[in-house]
Amino acid sequence: MRQPMVAGNWKLNGSRQMVSALLGDILSGLGDPLTAEIAICPPFVYLQEARGALEGSGVVLGAQDVCDEDEGAYTGEVSAPMLGDVGCRYVIVGHSERRSLYRETDELVARKFEAVMRAGLCPILCVGESLEERNAGVTEAVVARQLDAVVELVGPERIGEAVVAYEPVWAIGTGMTASPEQAQAVHAYIRGRLDLAGVSAGSVRLLYGGSVKPENAVELFAMPDIDGGLIGGASLQAETFLAICRAA
Ligand code: G3H
Repeated sequence: MRQPMVAGNWKLNGSRQMVSALLGDILSGLGDPLTAEIAICPPFVYLQEARGALEGSGVVLGAQDVCDEDEGAYTGEVSAPMLGDVGCRYVIVGHSERRSLYRETDELVARKFEAVMRAGLCPILCVGESLEERNAGVTEAVVARQLDAVVELVGPERIGEAVVAYEPVWAIGTGMTASPEQAQAVHAYIRGRLDLAGVSAGSVRLLYGGSVKPENAVELFAMPDIDGGLIGGASLQAETFLAICRAA
């Protein structure tokens, strides 16, 4: 039995004022404990502030990226042990914006994944194809390549503890959500691929991300292999984020 999960990825948005106002509104609107686990991933500089605001609430903290090294001369980087130190439980690795805008390779993403596990935190590994790749019919090959790089480096045993987020690049921030059937088909493929690699895939939570809104969340999350969502734009407003959390 996999606990549903909804993670809010704030991306490059936020301020100290927003941390206190948005998290305050989310916590006061939560009401009865939800079945889903809820995680908030603000920018690095607001993690500490968010940790204070979330204290005792059951809502957990995540980061949006991490360095593959633990310490040393890597100016500007933030390590997994540091993220653990400020209270993170989750770390997103391999988001498509990191892969495309900052040229992160499958190998670097795998090393980041390993660094997160080494620190005792839980990676949220993002995979997904571009529109060109979908149109070329290579969605499964792309997702397989992204998953395999991690399995090869980390080994199948430990991946069972991680979370995988399927985010078709063409659906991110575009308002073009994958249909529940399209998303389910790739989620089922991911679970099958992990299974083949020797991962106990039945326990791995698979999140969908890409223009999730209150209007489409119920249908998406009702799919058998979709265990919740990784939410961008809709996580920046308490009302919409809470409605998505309730759908999970
Ligand atoms: O990490 C979140 C995803 O990139 C989805 O973003 O909900 O704004 O499309 P979005």
